[in-house]
Amino acid sequence: MSVILGIESTAHTFGIGIVKDGKILANVKETYTTEKGGIIPVESAKHHEKFCKLLLKKAFDECGMSFENVNAIAFSQAPGLAPCLLVGLRFAKKISKENNIPLVPVNHCVAHLEIGRITGAKDPVMLYASGANTQIIAYASEKYRVFGETLDIGIGNFIDTFARYTGLGFPGGPKVAELALKSNSEKYIELPYSIKGMDVAFSGMLTKLRQLFERKQATIEDLSYSLQETAFAMLVEASERALAHTGKKELLLGGGVACNKRLQEMCRIMCEERGCKFFVPPNSLLVDNGAMIAYLGEIQFKSGIKFSGKEADKLDINPRQRTDHIKVTWR
Ligand code: ATP
Ligand code: FE2
Repeated sequence: MSVILGIESTAHTFGIGIVKDGKILANVKETYTTEKGGIIPVESAKHHEKFCKLLLKKAFDECGMSFENVNAIAFSQAPGLAPCLLVGLRFAKKISKENNIPLVPVNHCVAHLEIGRITGAKDPVMLYASGANTQIIAYASEKYRVFGETLDIGIGNFIDTFARYTGLGFPGGPKVAELALKSNSEKYIELPYSIKGMDVAFSGMLTKLRQLFERKQATIEDLSYSLQETAFAMLVEASERALAHTGKKELLLGGGVACNKRLQEMCRIMCEERGCKFFVPPNSLLVDNGAMIAYLGEIQFKSGIKFSGKEADKLDINPRQRTDHIKVTWR
């Protein structure tokens, strides 16, 4: 039996989760948002500093626990924005020292993947669609291999950039999704569809959307609708190719953009047509959160990965670590 506390701080969200034997007991967070413009890393880090103690208390209150119950403290070590990662690292080290509890460093992207297993998926192809990342990943011989990915920007950052440009604020994903519902297939505007094998690219589509918006050639609703239909069709096509290539029979969605109901619907239809199973965790586990860090932290902890004393002092952040660089020793 083990209880793991997880700390998420890679970008816009500071979150604390508590997991016991694979069950989520608490999952609380605060997200840095802006009315105009994107994330300012230093401002986001300040936001995290302000909330860490409060959220820790909230998480403990939620499940009636205290440090006495905690066997390990997991934190997101990589990848992400350095100032934000540092807040998480320092906070994790501080409470680890004060309470004499070992640390477990976790890769944020792998956590997005592993938490998907809570849905019952066993060996899926995973479409990881988040802010900074868009990857199609599957497990093969001790690694999560990247079969396809974006060649320029992540799908979330792409949508958020469009939203920022058109004055919708950050994060743009939910706003674009809402506007898209007010348009339909008859108003669809053709946009650059860019897919090579299992890789995708969005910058051409972004340029075209900007031009159409600037020249007032389409409404924001029709642009939002066309953006979603085109970009998501690319992701579904790449995912289907990965399913065919790997012979796997399950598709799992992960990352904040996977909250999008239209993306979920398009994936579900593709899976039904191919005779595959489709899995998607609840929104609270798709967006950045502390529970997924605790969840993967527990798996790693049980496989013997933990740091105490001087070893813990030496732990550092790794802003650019890639998913396929990590040796998956716990599977
Ligand atoms: P990464 O995991 O690549 O580091 P991240 O940490 O920024 O990225 P997530 O929290 O996983 O990201 O995802 C953030 C993205 O999800 C943003 O681009 C946001 O617009 C989008 N998003 C969040 N909620 C929704 C929603 N309900 N519908 C559509 N998009 C959403
Ligand atoms: Fe994320």
